[in-house]
Amino acid sequence: MDLAARLGDAGFTPGAKHFLPLFAVLEAGGDQADLAEKALARAGEAVVEPVRRRLVDAPSPLRARLAVVLGRVAAGGSASAVDLVTGLLGDDDWRTRRAAARAFAKIRGEGVEARLVERWSSEPQVEVRRSLAESMGRAGAEASLRALSATTPPTDPELARLLANAITTLTREGSRETPSAIAGDVSPAAPALLVFHVRRGLEPVLVEELAAWGARNVAPGVVTATLNGPLSSVHVARTWLSFGFRIAPVPVRGEVADAVASAISSRAAREIFRRFTVGTVRFRLAFSDAAHHRALSWAIASAVRERAPELVNDPTSSTWEVTVVEHEKTARIELSPRALEDPRFAYRRGDVPAASHPTIAAALARIAGPRENDVVWDPFCGSGLELIERARLGGCKALVGTDVDTRAIETARQNVASAGVTARIAKGDAREYRVPGVSLIITNPPMGRRVSNKAELGPLLDDALASWAAQLVPGGRIVWISPMAGTARRAEKLGLRVTERRDVDMGGFTAQLQKLEKP
Ligand SMILES: C[S@@+](CC[C@H](N)C(=O)[O-])C[C@H]1O[C@@H](n2cnc3c(N)ncnc32)[C@H](O)[C@@H]1O
Repeated sequence: MDLAARLGDAGFTPGAKHFLPLFAVLEAGGDQADLAEKALARAGEAVVEPVRRRLVDAPSPLRARLAVVLGRVAAGGSASAVDLVTGLLGDDDWRTRRAAARAFAKIRGEGVEARLVERWSSEPQVEVRRSLAESMGRAGAEASLRALSATTPPTDPELARLLANAITTLTREGSRETPSAIAGDVSPAAPALLVFHVRRGLEPVLVEELAAWGARNVAPGVVTATLNGPLSSVHVARTWLSFGFRIAPVPVRGEVADAVASAISSRAAREIFRRFTVGTVRFRLAFSDAAHHRALSWAIASAVRERAPELVNDPTSSTWEVTVVEHEKTARIELSPRALEDPRFAYRRGDVPAASHPTIAAALARIAGPRENDVVWDPFCGSGLELIERARLGGCKALVGTDVDTRAIETARQNVASAGVTARIAKGDAREYRVPGVSLIITNPPMGRRVSNKAELGPLLDDALASWAAQLVPGGRIVWISPMAGTARRAEKLGLRVTERRDVDMGGFTAQLQKLEKP
């Protein structure tokens, strides 16, 4: 097979006799040259000396190609290749210098950073400086950060961008040495407005949970409330999904990134960061539209660093999440202490495939309310969250959970034990099981999403409802999420009163939360 054909084979490792012909392919350029670069690099250490000899009088485009080959071999750990490619950082041909500078992004080892820093101090060519900045950002550490930060702001916008990105990356890595945590026991200096996010349909439940905080439902899925006590007191409410401090919006006049950065580095934001963080403030950026906005994120990070160097942008190891809620005319942000430990549902030891979202279980329990001597039954108990959430409110005389699935029963037993709740968990069909004296049926039944035969769901729930209506003591109630609004009519026919019904977002689909009472 001729050499050209073998180049396409990723398993082909050239030997001594192939080197010169392959150098000729490199020199000719084009796609074949790209393949030849890779093939030559696979030869590893063996190709270093032939490359060195060829470099003595290699003309310009070939020199850069040879630098790429050496860079690959150097990245594989060859010390002689590292030395040779270091020499090329000072080559007369700038394209060769650029190829060498790029190669350093993947070269690790002692002394490597010092070589880049040295070159950075004297390199005149802007294209090479761009590659040096990128490589220092990837391979460098403190010395690179010092050298890059001390640079006079470049006039070339692309270099300015790459320089800022490299500084962002290096700052973030340097700060990981120092701890960063959220102080949950600290209270705000003055009452602070918090924004809580909750599943749509559950807003009134959260407003009630935070009634003493002046809670208000301000938009679908959004409740605001005022924090007066320690930060961790937010956990008194069990139905929110996330929360953050709302910062006053900043008008966008020029660049969006500048406006967002002004909000993040505003006095109000800095005070919150400082007050509730132990150690370095590390934040990551998120956007409420869930998109990535990569370029904007880098630009914001760099603009924040200029205004507030103590705030470190770090997407992977962050104590705070800064969500950009709006950035067209005004930059509006929320600061969420994502490293604040959330103990609310820490009792969960296991999950079942269709487990309830814990905030929904908490909402059902809240709507059922505490009642003295309550006899509580969850006929589709799954992992047992509704029983546990109801037990937490107190007043239960007995708690019973049943399910047809043996694994769900096992999981529910583990969860109730870890929550410190005493409940009887047994195997049983929701339509046939009997719980004498039951005063509350609280449940999240199958939603027909995972049931193989959806047609069976209607009759299953109808039969279950009829059996429950018959068993409930007078004054008893059913609080459940129904996948079908029609179950309310069916309940009325069974003599139950529908005292509450509202659509709830179940995470991609809607179901109806219903409270049915037996007169
Ligand atoms: C949506 S899951 C319940 C989730 C539960 N609330 C939790 O927190 O994990 C529905 C449960 O109903 C159970 N199930 C399905 N058909 C049943 C039936 N006829 N009788 C009793 N349980 C049944 C399933 O095994 C499943 O565990």
